[in-house]
Amino acid sequence: SLTVPNVQELASAISSSEIPERYLRPEAEARVVDSIDDDELPVIDLMKLVDPELFDKEELSRLGLACREWGFFQLINHGVAKEMIEKTKNDIMGFFKLPLKEKEAFKQLPGQIEGYGQMFVHSEEQKLDWADMLTLVTKPHKDMRFWPINPSSFRDTIDKYTLKIENVVDCLYALMAKDLGIDPKVMLKNLSKQMQSIRINYYPPCKEANKVLGLSPHSDGIALTVLLQANDVNGLQIKKNNKWLLVKPKPGAFIVNIGDMLEIMTNGKYKSVEHRAVINMEEARLSIATFHLPNTDVILRPFPELINGDGELYKTISVKEYSKEYFSEKLNGKSALESMKL
Ligand code: SIN
Ligand code: FE2
Repeated sequence: SLTVPNVQELASAISSSEIPERYLRPEAEARVVDSIDDDELPVIDLMKLVDPELFDKEELSRLGLACREWGFFQLINHGVAKEMIEKTKNDIMGFFKLPLKEKEAFKQLPGQIEGYGQMFVHSEEQKLDWADMLTLVTKPHKDMRFWPINPSSFRDTIDKYTLKIENVVDCLYALMAKDLGIDPKVMLKNLSKQMQSIRINYYPPCKEANKVLGLSPHSDGIALTVLLQANDVNGLQIKKNNKWLLVKPKPGAFIVNIGDMLEIMTNGKYKSVEHRAVINMEEARLSIATFHLPNTDVILRPFPELINGDGELYKTISVKEYSKEYFSEKLNGKSALESMKL
């Protein structure tokens, strides 16, 4: 992708009347009228699903409903220790607070997605998002060039955090298999512990928050995302019935969402839903997304049990080809997935 300005620096250097043209998003203004606070995003209690003593069949149907109708849910009682979550947030905040020069030691290289910078910038004309990002691949191979060394525990913290998240994701895959009526072993064989990456999104405040967008509308081009909102500033909005709903995470909850690859593999039963991030006027927002997907050579096709009368809904495509398609464009709603429809 092309090199663009650092937004954290830009935001602290300008006054609101000087927002560069490339960041002005006419569509963002509409958020005042078409966005509402959400109070109904499903909340799933993982303890009620993994503890045999507490197992609650209704909770499983709620999980199924969330994946089918919302594509998003909040996950509570997920078993990841509070201390670990706090440590993760603190080490990440520690990195973003460093002077630009120090952060830039971990800068993205031209044409690559790992490292500190922005993503999805493909032309000089396209509108830009009001955010800086740090993207790290954690599996199958780590490229330590992009891994911050300050705070000194950063690398260790991210290793531990992403391993825990991977276990939560495996639990969810097995439960989803149950909901879908497929063999959990087959589900895990196809999806478990293959590729994982983490993307930290730092959204500086903007006095005219309605004029910019933190992250353009998109669906995730992977199988499953676990998001942690790292401070108390809300900003994630999901599209539901053509309205944008603001997600208000419960303390300690993860936000989980279905990605395009899982929509393909479930033959459209589970939905990969469009979302975006908006900006706060006063405070920076920080979110930590962990992405999970099968290995690059895996062919994406529906589980046979899920091909009903309607046949297959999407082209058969490898993970590698799908990723290439997804990253070759700017973020643009569900356009990548839609181009796969048969
Ligand atoms: C994302 O979609 O990757 C991030 C959303 C957020 O910042 O809440
Ligand atoms: Fe996303």
